[in-house]
Amino acid sequence: MKKTILLTGGLGYIGSHTCVVLEQAGFRTVLLDNLSNSSLSSLDGIERILGYRPVFYDADIRDRGAMASLLKSNDFAGVIHFAGLKAVGESVESPFEYYNNNIQGSFVFFEEMERTGLRNIVFSSSATVYAADNTLPLTEASKLGTTNSYGTSKLTLEFVLRDLVSAKAWNAIALRYFNPIGAHASGYIGERPKGVPNNLLPYILDVAIGKRERVGVYGDDYDTVDGTGVRDYIDVNDLAEAHLAAIQKLLASPTTPLPVFSPSPPAPLLSEEMGAKSSFQAINIGTGQGTSVLEMIENVRLASGKSIPYAILARRPGDLGSVYADPSLARELLGWEVKRSVREAVGSSWKFVHDNR
Ligand code: NAD
Ligand code: UFG
Repeated sequence: MKKTILLTGGLGYIGSHTCVVLEQAGFRTVLLDNLSNSSLSSLDGIERILGYRPVFYDADIRDRGAMASLLKSNDFAGVIHFAGLKAVGESVESPFEYYNNNIQGSFVFFEEMERTGLRNIVFSSSATVYAADNTLPLTEASKLGTTNSYGTSKLTLEFVLRDLVSAKAWNAIALRYFNPIGAHASGYIGERPKGVPNNLLPYILDVAIGKRERVGVYGDDYDTVDGTGVRDYIDVNDLAEAHLAAIQKLLASPTTPLPVFSPSPPAPLLSEEMGAKSSFQAINIGTGQGTSVLEMIENVRLASGKSIPYAILARRPGDLGSVYADPSLARELLGWEVKRSVREAVGSSWKFVHDNR
């Protein structure tokens, strides 16, 4: 019989791609989303790819009654918890909204998981949990620290999951994503930011389709290949496959401890060693390669054939010059590595945006 996995935030950008990968690998997925940052067009796209429509619940993780009945009426083998708000700038302006939706919402949801005995979880964490003063590449042992309420929500939930692992024998993997880009090769699902895009690639793509005039490049005086900011852009299809590998790892031996995570040097907020029975593990999901803003603009120019006007602006407050992962733990523990290049990912993003203008 197929194992069923619940995807909170399942109609979002990463959730929808993960749904497709899990279904194609022989899992049954159930999607839960409050549609605050997505729409039913994602479900239509998933249906066009798979040839059938996965079960979808329009519900909010903060709704205890809805979570209790959803969890009771299904036999879930595990959860992938994507649901959350994700805009850094907005989180600085509205911290309580982020604490409420991301932290309080997850508390409600976790409590109802515990009540039904569901204890296998893959959690969407982020490279944002790393402090600014680390050396690169970032490893899971790099120093942790946050500068905004979005990051605080991610780090808090990592700690909460670690506690649940030791107190309640949960099995949890936190995947720390770097910068997801790209779309499904079909062009039926992809990233659909509402309003003005916060992230670089969606903004450049808006310029390429003529929706915006020019890209503002936040600084060209960093110590990088061309002075512009460097990030580790990971194809969302590779990222979706990392979730498949993580859920398979959790389900293969839910009671077998994963290797103990002992940060070296000890990270201030994760300084206690995991207990012997612990199966909490944080894992970087990135490519290990950095790409600059100007290189991304050039990638879009090549993919679209459009010229991309840009203007150099001041640095964006809070930005780092370079951020990229050491993804070797993912290879070691999950047997996962990237298959797609940044150029391919930009190509699939362009196809999605172009086909869905
Ligand atoms: P997304 O906004 O496309 O997907 C998140 C989904 O969760 C949305 O469909 C939204 O409607 C839903 N949601 C939000 N709050 C909810 C609630 N209270 N109840 C039910 N559903 C709710 O974002 P994404 O890019 O797919 O990100 C998925 C997860 O990965 C998020 O937790 C995000 O913080 C994390 N993450 C994303 C990135 C990135 O750059 N995309 C990087 C690191 C981590
Ligand atoms: N950039 C521009 N112009 C823009 C947008 C971005 O020059 O219009 C630059 C930024 O300065 C940075 C790079 O492009 O150098 C990437 O910026 P993004 O905003 O796309 O990505 P960030 O790495 O800054 O932030 C992302 C997610 C956050 C997450 C963080 C974790 O958006 O949610 O990664 O590393 F917290």
